[in-house]
Amino acid sequence: MHLASQKPFQIPSEREDAPRCQKRLGEGTYGEVFAATYQNREMAVKRLKQINQFGLHQTQYTELIVAQSLSINQHHNNIVNTEFIYVQNQLVHLAMEFCDCMLIKIFEQRLTKLERKAVYKQTLEGLQYLHHNNFLHCDLKPQNIMVRFMPTGDHQYTTYIKIGDFGMGEFINQRSSGSIFTPHKDFKWTAGYRPPEIICGYTDLCLKSDVWSLGVTFLELQSGKNIFASLTAERYEELYKQKFSALINALNNDEEIESSFEFMDMFDYDADEREFLQAMLEFDVRKRLNCDELLEHPFLHEDFGSVYEKVGQGMRGELTKLKESQFAAEEQEWHD
Ligand SMILES: Nc1ncnc2c1ncn2[C@@H]1O[C@H](COP(=O)(O)OP(=O)(O)O)[C@@H](O)[C@H]1O
Ligand SMILES: [Mg+2]
Repeated sequence: MHLASQKPFQIPSEREDAPRCQKRLGEGTYGEVFAATYQNREMAVKRLKQINQFGLHQTQYTELIVAQSLSINQHHNNIVNTEFIYVQNQLVHLAMEFCDCMLIKIFEQRLTKLERKAVYKQTLEGLQYLHHNNFLHCDLKPQNIMVRFMPTGDHQYTTYIKIGDFGMGEFINQRSSGSIFTPHKDFKWTAGYRPPEIICGYTDLCLKSDVWSLGVTFLELQSGKNIFASLTAERYEELYKQKFSALINALNNDEEIESSFEFMDMFDYDADEREFLQAMLEFDVRKRLNCDELLEHPFLHEDFGSVYEKVGQGMRGELTKLKESQFAAEEQEWHD
């Protein structure tokens, strides 16, 4: 299979007609994100910070490779796409499509079961696209999944769920199960979303590790609870001693393991949704379903019809008002 990462990345030249950055939306160690306008369109710009004089940090380089190979040269509706990369004042910038809100926001107004299915399906389609390109995300969590309401004319919108923030990820070589760039690093995966095989130190990277993090994310979106954060320290310790050490032995020796992991009773779901989420949260990575299998699962066999024209859009009015008041305040500041 063609590996997107094999194309070298070329830093583009300085750009005259760059997007105009306005309000800062977020800041991390390696970059800042701004709302911006470009040719009368709303965009989001990620400005990569200059970490040291030696050039880009691994995570910044990964973001650029993903942008170049998975959204500039190709494209998928369920990831946050970069339109172009440019340099301004010697800093590298990614000009991305603008997302309206985080996925968490649309779960604030209780979703129906059919709407949740629509969210699961779209998110899994985004992840399937990354996985078909052998890209393991390594940092799926509620904060890294966004929503875009795309106008379709006549005051209608279609809701798109979008996976973003690719810096922690890796292109993996499935044949040798190894990583192309770097050996596995501890700083990958945010603690509460780290899958059992990573916690117990298994070193063969597997795309299905992302499926666990996404399962944890779906539970949290609906319940407000993260599985691991909800466990007491003693219970976590007990898990660590018993289950994780048994898991690493079984994985390394290619043995069967009794792998039940009882936490679904902390959550309130119908039997079919519970079974679907449980399949994402299978403790033994070898038995966990992958994105292709989950998308084929009977739980997602639905006629979604007009669901995508509605899901989460109760939020849209509130967001528009918020934006208008922000623009008014900024304009006032400008005049003062
Ligand atoms: N395309 C986008 N549209 C709107 N907001 C964005 C976009 N990309 C990022 N953001 C905002 O910026 C924050 C940080 O971006 P992210 O890519 O997650 O970087 P990091 O977490 O590594 O700093 C996000 O949580 C979100 O609030
Ligand atoms: Mg992030």
